[in-house]
Amino acid sequence: MEVTLEQAIEIIKRGEIVAIPTETVYGLAADAKNAIAVLKTFEKKGRPADNPLIVHISELDQLTDLASDIPDEVYTLANRFWPGPLTIVLKRDQAVLDVITAALDTVAVRMPDHPLTLELIHSTGPVTAPSANKSGKPSPTKPAHLEQDYGSDLPYLDGGECSIGIESTVLDLTQKPFSVLRPGAISSDEISAALGVEIIETENKSSQTKRSPGTRYTHYKPEAEVHWMKSLIIDHFETDTLYVYHSGNNITSSENVIDFNGNMDKLAQSLYDIYRTADLKNYIKILVEPIQQTSKSGIERALFNRIQLSVKQ
Ligand code: TXA
Ligand code: MG
Repeated sequence: MEVTLEQAIEIIKRGEIVAIPTETVYGLAADAKNAIAVLKTFEKKGRPADNPLIVHISELDQLTDLASDIPDEVYTLANRFWPGPLTIVLKRDQAVLDVITAALDTVAVRMPDHPLTLELIHSTGPVTAPSANKSGKPSPTKPAHLEQDYGSDLPYLDGGECSIGIESTVLDLTQKPFSVLRPGAISSDEISAALGVEIIETENKSSQTKRSPGTRYTHYKPEAEVHWMKSLIIDHFETDTLYVYHSGNNITSSENVIDFNGNMDKLAQSLYDIYRTADLKNYIKILVEPIQQTSKSGIERALFNRIQLSVKQ
């Protein structure tokens, strides 16, 4: 159910939850100072309690109530990338609720780049917001996805289609070398260039599960089986399969054959919608043209990561 900004602010202030737009994916927001409200987001999503939440801020000043021993690098990164799709893991302030951090000694913070949500947080103070999908479903990138997961009873702020479509980069600044725990639109190379230090990528390594517990859970997965295409030339397109190309080399035009013609940003923006639409249309398989794992582009690496996670599980 769509609500106005004023209603959304009022909902947060009275300790209820509301879905909010960001540039990455829709989030399920709760007042970060209200443990009962935060717990409601776990319940609503069906999310395990040991998977910590990102606190979303609208002003840099809000950081000092959330994190302690804030390194200078945060300000360099904030200057360069906030508001934007970068989440930074820092030592937590003692006042941060345990329910947010899953009792870790760290807290994840980001300033999302969406005018409605920034205005909301400006009025309410920091909000926690996991991706608004039901646990195990692809993240929502448009209001219609929220209705698919929750029917009409979840209040949401309509901010249109998310511009990036894939969750933020999660960067851990609590240990050296700094490491990317989850790849996103902002690449480790860009972070490295901004800070002048090496950034390692620990996504999907078992050593990382302890530091970013969320990566252990099923994610990004539609009902249809996802596979990388073994060959780009297909003699016979099966009607129960959705074919997703991006190189522009495909010449078949059909409802179940999509080509993004080199526009990887558009593929990222559409990926979860493709997954969800494939399920609504009862496709059995989704075949995706391979993407370079070692690409220099943040969005390509993030795409590789999300698609690979749905291939494996
Ligand atoms: O783009 C995004 O980040 C979206 C939008 C709504 O902002 N949010 C999002 O939240 O993707 P969620 O809860 O679906 O994913 C948060 C990720 C999880 O993998 C979680 O384990 C990790 O961030 N995380 C949260 N707090 C952490 C912490 N203190 N240390 C390490 N990882 C943390
Ligand atoms: Mg999520």
